[in-house]
Amino acid sequence: MKEIRKVIIPVAGWGTRSLPASKNIPKEMLPVYNKPVIQYVVEEAIKSGVTDVVFVTNRDKSVIEDHFDYNLQLEGVLERSGKLDKLKTVRDVAEMVNIMSVRQKKQLGLGHAVLCARPLITDEPFAIMVGDDLMFGGVPGVQQLIDVAMRENMPVIGVMEVPRDKVSRYGIIDGEEVSPGVYRIKDMVEKPDVDKAPSQLAIVGRYVLTPDVFDYLEKVTPGVGGEIQLTDALQALARDRGMMAVKMTGIRFDAGDWADYLSANIYFGLQDESLRYGLLERLKQFVQFS
Ligand code: UTP
Repeated sequence: MKEIRKVIIPVAGWGTRSLPASKNIPKEMLPVYNKPVIQYVVEEAIKSGVTDVVFVTNRDKSVIEDHFDYNLQLEGVLERSGKLDKLKTVRDVAEMVNIMSVRQKKQLGLGHAVLCARPLITDEPFAIMVGDDLMFGGVPGVQQLIDVAMRENMPVIGVMEVPRDKVSRYGIIDGEEVSPGVYRIKDMVEKPDVDKAPSQLAIVGRYVLTPDVFDYLEKVTPGVGGEIQLTDALQALARDRGMMAVKMTGIRFDAGDWADYLSANIYFGLQDESLRYGLLERLKQFVQFS
């Protein structure tokens, strides 16, 4: 398989679980500790060797592209006031990656969002990272998939084990483990009832795919929730040409879920030496009073 240079990051959803916080601020721009959610996702892409990011956005999300661009007025203020460390911080974000974007004019689901990016992907394999899924620890998330895709010369998707009572929230795979943590996918199903789920291996927001997936997406009709589901296209692709899954290592936070979002803030706060002690003290107090 050719080198992976591009990643599609869909960020065009309504973010209803994050309301009211996401009413006028995209949920991908909500801060986790000192950075917006989307910056962590883009940093993971860069650590995995990706050079070009394609955002799938909507009319209210241009602030996401702006975050990865220069803000000359702010830079001028920081320069004149001698805040050179802050100046570097904001410039580094503008210079970290090439950004392209495409609009999803109707929110018809994740599969449809990916299809909107087709004109910006030439005949090369690419990654998809869901814009509100954060992965940390060890080998960068998408890199784990790229390693297997290169070795097996096949599309690869990321999975993680979830508790039985949560399988109906995810796409679930049926796979045969061919080496530790690597599965050959036999089938997959979107949001199955718990008694119909083939496993507890849930598809999380990381994929390495080949451009033939677009032909499959063109044919997908609305599935669960009336949306064009990416899983439906992947199911057909897996049956026809084979696909692998990697059980991802590290910690995952779904920034669209409040418990995960708040945990991510605490996780990063605790990494900062200057905050750790005070934060732990406050947390102890909260436990006492709750
Ligand atoms: P989610 O289902 O987590 O996002 O989709 P959502 O629809 O924005 O959020 P809720 O469920 O209403 O709270 C996963 C990713 O796919 C994008 C979202 O922006 C998110 O990053 N997405 C989803 C699109 O780009 N377009 C869509 O039509 C749907």
